[in-house]
Amino acid sequence: MPLGVSHSLTGPDYRASSGFGMALVGCGSALPAASISNADLSQRVETSDDWIRSRTGIGARRISGQDEPLTVLASRAAEAALAHAGWQASEVDLILLATSSPDDLFGTAPRVQAAIGASGAVAFDLTAACSGFLFALVTAGQYIASGAVRRALVIGADQLSRWVDWDDRRTCVLFGDGAAAVAVQACAAEQTGLLGFRMRSDGSRNACLTLAQSDDREPLLGALSAQKGGFAPIHMNGQEVYKFAVREVPQILAELLEHTGTRAEQLDWLLLHQANQRILDAVAERFAMPQEQVLSNLAHYGNTSAATIPLMLDEAVRDGRVQAGHLLASSGFGAGLSWGAALLRWSGPPAAT
Ligand code: UT7
Repeated sequence: MPLGVSHSLTGPDYRASSGFGMALVGCGSALPAASISNADLSQRVETSDDWIRSRTGIGARRISGQDEPLTVLASRAAEAALAHAGWQASEVDLILLATSSPDDLFGTAPRVQAAIGASGAVAFDLTAACSGFLFALVTAGQYIASGAVRRALVIGADQLSRWVDWDDRRTCVLFGDGAAAVAVQACAAEQTGLLGFRMRSDGSRNACLTLAQSDDREPLLGALSAQKGGFAPIHMNGQEVYKFAVREVPQILAELLEHTGTRAEQLDWLLLHQANQRILDAVAERFAMPQEQVLSNLAHYGNTSAATIPLMLDEAVRDGRVQAGHLLASSGFGAGLSWGAALLRWSGPPAAT
């Protein structure tokens, strides 16, 4: 059934096209072995389990070890998604790696492509911080809709433990490392798992949350100096980002539902970026969604940036909460500032014969 188009809305919108649909057919994730609890962190900075849990819902986070660089985590997640979908690596046409913490600024996705043996896939990174996975999923949807790509792996992976100031209690308690992937493939338009989306950026509010190039310069010749590569640790105005999230996420989800002619009661799950339990609760309240339909794993992993949405999806698929045919409203939001929402239907792997 064609979806309604609202002309009063601005920005890129998706509506059912005459091209292919995109089915979500597999998922997988990979987490570092080491976990740091709130109590552990309180030995490093002046904080407490009570403060962190009551303000954020976070209880622990995973931190990558030396043998767990982003490429390794992302590749493990991709392999798990391949196995779940029942694909061979050689069948993948496109690998999109959403990350803000690449192993190589020239691109980490090709390393993942090589590691999993997807020699026929084109692979590149996409950076949109905590909105990265959602933006990458939508991007994959466009390649698939146009017929250019049949099968894609969309990976969200971040290792922000490299970029937090471990002496800044306002940020270091929030973030963790992780990777997760979703396997998507072309299907008939009427069976699409990407029923609609909306995406937004507002660079005028960029300063609220940055992982910016540091100012260091290297004397070169005479008065000339060259910028030295390197980044300053994550800087965040927590209250501003919080206000942004509780205002914009309900708004963009409401637009998405209106745009796709969906009522909140039709949703099986809210699948939001995992930044703060209070944000999840505020969004759920706006749509009168019962707590048990709001997916949350903040307590175990904290904010893994681009990985949170696929990590949460993978967990809920594997434990049987999300089932084939379920409808999920998803929203990613964060640095940029950037935010977006997508209405998804989980297909799952083809039933074994
Ligand atoms: O993924 C990207 C999206 N990011 C987000 O969505 C993050 C959005 N922001 C938030 O989640 C919240 O703003 C935080 C969890 C970051 C902070 O919570 P808050 O309720 O906004 O706290 P606050 O920044 O207003 O700080 C309140 C107090 C301050 O003390 P004073 O000035 O009132 O004496 C802070 O210094 O809490 C203090 N504080 C802490 N105390 C113990 C800040 N961090 C900590 C800490 N432990 N870790």
